[in-house]
Amino acid sequence: MASRPKEQWGTKVGVILAVAGSAVGLGNFLRFPGQAAQNGGGAFMIPYFLALVLIAIPMCWAEWTMGRYGGRFGFNSCPAIFGVIGRNKFWRFSGVLGLLIPVGVYMYYVYLEAWCLGYAWSYFTGDIVNQLGTAPAEYASNSGKFFDKFVGAEADGLTSAGGGIQSAVFFWLITFTLNFILIYRGIAKGIERFCIIAMPIMTVCAFLVLIRVLTLGTPDPAHPEQNVVNGLAFMWNPKAGPGEPWWYALADAEVWLAACGQVFFSLSVGFGIIVNYASYLRQDDDVVLSGLTAASTNEFFEVCLGGLITLPAAFVFLGVAGATSGAAGGTFGLGFNTLPAVFMHMPEVGGFQTGRVVGFLWFFMLFLAAITSSLSMLQPAIAFLEEGLGIGRRASVALLGLITALGSFFVIYFSKGLVALDTIDFWVGTAMIFVLAMVEVVLFGWVMGVERGFEEAHRGAAIRIPAFFKFIIKYVSPTFLFVIFVMWCMNNLPARIEGIAAGGVALGAIMVLAALFIFLTLLVAIAGPRWQAETLDTHKTRGFPVGGGQ
Ligand code: PFF
Repeated sequence: MASRPKEQWGTKVGVILAVAGSAVGLGNFLRFPGQAAQNGGGAFMIPYFLALVLIAIPMCWAEWTMGRYGGRFGFNSCPAIFGVIGRNKFWRFSGVLGLLIPVGVYMYYVYLEAWCLGYAWSYFTGDIVNQLGTAPAEYASNSGKFFDKFVGAEADGLTSAGGGIQSAVFFWLITFTLNFILIYRGIAKGIERFCIIAMPIMTVCAFLVLIRVLTLGTPDPAHPEQNVVNGLAFMWNPKAGPGEPWWYALADAEVWLAACGQVFFSLSVGFGIIVNYASYLRQDDDVVLSGLTAASTNEFFEVCLGGLITLPAAFVFLGVAGATSGAAGGTFGLGFNTLPAVFMHMPEVGGFQTGRVVGFLWFFMLFLAAITSSLSMLQPAIAFLEEGLGIGRRASVALLGLITALGSFFVIYFSKGLVALDTIDFWVGTAMIFVLAMVEVVLFGWVMGVERGFEEAHRGAAIRIPAFFKFIIKYVSPTFLFVIFVMWCMNNLPARIEGIAAGGVALGAIMVLAALFIFLTLLVAIAGPRWQAETLDTHKTRGFPVGGGQ
């Protein structure tokens, strides 16, 4: 048995809030509305809900169950846990994806998180309001200029066009350090305590912004059609071309791929992080209801808050053209490029810009949502370094800090057109999660076996999983995933591979990821034999079954 001190969650609510905190993030408020608007509006929700029920929720249960099972052997990282379940090297090495993905995503996500903090700060000081000017016709272009200068999107390097270091770099330093301080404090005292405080504050901020948006009415009498109801219709009515039936969007493969990718990204499924978080549960803690509760919380934030705020607000002030161009402005562009212009349109009360308060609440809320997510990207690798190298918290935090600082620096430095960010997001944040999801679903449904998997899931469970999910996990989820993945590769890979072959930053980003992959794989190769011995030891001393199949 591992001699490391065993970490555990402090409370039941704490672990659910931590998993929900991981899931609720920028994906819910920025990525979701953009994806839905671009991919059929209301029609998008059909593949979205199918992917949710047929793949994502079963996978949540599988991740929660496998994680808690691995924790029984004293393991907390995907390679060790997959090795215990699959009982061979193939599965152990496939667990590398459960480290590479969260660490890779962290490298750019922490930068986006820094933007949120920076924007919240500039609303607090009023700087952004001053820079957007007083002429409504200029808000949109000034907002774009502010963004480009803030992140350095016009040129590589760390200085912005007007001279001086890009402001985003300072906020990056703060955000980065804060993440590592919390991680250093550990599961219960760091992550859990922070999520218990941050999640309610975030919820209150989100509701305040929602109420403001839903009470906008028809602010511009010259444009009576730009009202809240039409804003909601813009977001939610199924879109179809002239003369086409509403379901026409469903014939487009891209809509299915986008919906599936969005569900995964948003629920933090297929990243290996739920496996890690669940490994800190006690053996009889419920996983079925907890998994469902965390997933439902995420859906509430995504569909009800993310879906009602961002695009309807853009529509009310900027009309169809503004909302459409915002939605098309890159995955996360809507929030940073378009919304500041929207907030400027909110009325003045007693000479005070109400949009300034809404802007602050909005970006502060995004910052909290993002940090509870980024913490979950670091913890799997911390656990891995500790159990893989047999080192303590301090050393693992220092090592991971160094690795992620280098990777993140790469993203910040090559900020022109945000190519580095986009390349890493594409490969790890979209492509690889399909692969890890397939690995996990096969490991749970076929290697551990659905019967044993369900038995394990139901130990201490507060509710039962309907029996037909056995069939879904074993047959439907892997088939659905495989078909979507193949279609997705056919649609997207050729252009991306050309981009890499052209050299430049895209190639550099791939090399960063490759270096990380090789490093992690080597560590797994070194740690594997020791883990095997530890597993046998646990087996003998506690009489646990080792691995699957029996
Ligand atoms: N689910 C998060 C969001 O919607 O923003 C993103 C995320 C969290 C991705 C944790 C990856 C991860 F490991």
